[in-house]
Amino acid sequence: MKLIFLGPPGAGKGTQAERIAERFEIAHLSTGDMLRAEIRNATPLGAAAKAYIDRGELVPDSVIIDMVRERITREDCKKGFLLDGFPRTVVQAEALQSFTDVDFAVNIDVPSERLVKRISGRRMCPDCGAAYHVSMYAETTCQKCGAVLYQRDDDREETVYNRLKVYTEKTAPLIAYYEAEEKLITVNGDQAVDAVTESILKGLGA
Ligand code: AP5
Ligand code: MG
Repeated sequence: MKLIFLGPPGAGKGTQAERIAERFEIAHLSTGDMLRAEIRNATPLGAAAKAYIDRGELVPDSVIIDMVRERITREDCKKGFLLDGFPRTVVQAEALQSFTDVDFAVNIDVPSERLVKRISGRRMCPDCGAAYHVSMYAETTCQKCGAVLYQRDDDREETVYNRLKVYTEKTAPLIAYYEAEEKLITVNGDQAVDAVTESILKGLGA
């Protein structure tokens, strides 16, 4: 099973990807998490990416495409993978198509007025990438691995508005792209977390 999760910032891609990847026993590959790991490890790639991420801009296509192309050749992707946050431009989608075929693109649809609230209350695990919301989880450490949760630098309000604008301009056209490929499944992401998971599984015929 090879899946793509599409959706605006804060739609719940990471939250749902974790559940769906576990269910199908496939690798969960979040390009945002990969870039944040590069920043934490102070690599040259991380240093270059940080400037884009902090402004809410996309990291250049060539960097991301090379990263994903290499990542999906690893052992943990043999049974399949779920790409969370890639592709994000038509150039990335075309590159992906040139090196592998995906089965479905799941579009998590959430009204834009909900997104800022979701993002501003988000707390992340630096180690396993799990996302929590202060309204649903009051602890300060990760339920899964115990690490101390943190707030992402790009979750500041002014950056969030730019991320939403960039999504509309560069990523939203992928909805039509995957619809034309007959691979698009759109689910209502404006429901409780469990209900969204059910909708995705139903859409995938599982
Ligand atoms: P990335 O990390 O991918 O961020 P994003 O796309 O902006 O999406 P988010 O991670 O913010 O949201 P999400 O949809 O995963 O939501 P979550 O599940 O956490 O990318 C960050 C940056 O990296 C980009 O801006 C760019 O610079 C760079 N980058 C990454 N990939 C790139 C690429 N391919 N090309 C170029 N640049 C790239 O949920 C959000 C919150 O809502 C949480 O608090 C959660 O608990 C809560 N929540 C989730 N579901 C629900 C629900 N159903 N009801 C209520 N609350 C919910
Ligand atoms: Mg995410």
